Amino acid sequence: MKKYLVIGNPIEHSLSPLIHNYWMKKYGLADSIYEKKKVEQKGLESIVKQVRNDELKGVNVTVPFKKEIIPFLDRLDNVALSTQSVNTLCKIKDEVWGYNTDAEGFSHSLSGKSIDYSGKNIFILGAGGVTSSIIHNLIFTANKIFITNRTKKKVEQLKKFTDLAGKEIEIIDWGKTPKACDLVINTTSVGLIKDENLDLDFKDYENNKGILFYDLIYNPEETNFLKKARLRGNKTMNGKMMFLHQARIAFQIWTGIDPEINDEVIKLLNR
Ligand code: ATR
Repeated sequence: MKKYLVIGNPIEHSLSPLIHNYWMKKYGLADSIYEKKKVEQKGLESIVKQVRNDELKGVNVTVPFKKEIIPFLDRLDNVALSTQSVNTLCKIKDEVWGYNTDAEGFSHSLSGKSIDYSGKNIFILGAGGVTSSIIHNLIFTANKIFITNRTKKKVEQLKKFTDLAGKEIEIIDWGKTPKACDLVINTTSVGLIKDENLDLDFKDYENNKGILFYDLIYNPEETNFLKKARLRGNKTMNGKMMFLHQARIAFQIWTGIDPEINDEVIKLLNR
């Protein structure tokens, strides 16, 4: 049996097993199974050891361990190295590699909709574990990136990462918004619990269908952040396609199969 896991804490909400088991069945990998497991920080080393011993064939890593897992790994791919964020483990020859498929997942979610943000202004809310993956692709092509986070220190850490790319980001005080940007992305966890609200004033953005509000959260399907944007007259998008693409790329790393994201898979997330 080839065993796969998604690890995190909390982990109950994860829909990764649903997607990966669907693809494993569809592509005839009858000897494979994908489960979720809640782990503590002290359990991370043992998970990596199980990948090294072939007890686990592949692992996805989610909040809050995407950075914490790094010291236990033998190698990182380039994106994981620059973002310092790992969401996929796989053994290659004798080494356990950490990959970041979130960054590519995010860019596929936009390009899949033929949305191109080169030369545009982007406002990012949050500076948590996934934010560097979001910035990773945008940083080279965007005109300007504004970023805000409740805890300012964390944005300053992110700034080091963007400075390496030779691009400056502008830090906005929490609670304030910059002049209308073309893309506004919520990378905070606010909204995961129904009715949670980000109290920001987007008056400048009213009745502008050219502006896209993108929430990385996909469950609930429409957070207050997206609902308010829709009522304000902006375009909206949730994190469903990014989630599916990061899963697709991880599946390909493990199995060599590039699984199809069709309506049936997308429907699995409608709950
Ligand atoms: P972390 O990286 O801290 O482990 P995360 O889940 O990856 O956690 O990120 C959570 C993000 O949501 C952070 O940007 C966090 O802001 P802080 O850095 O200030 O904690 C943000 N967040 C969570 N709850 C929030 C709230 N009630 N109001 C505003 N931002 C919040």
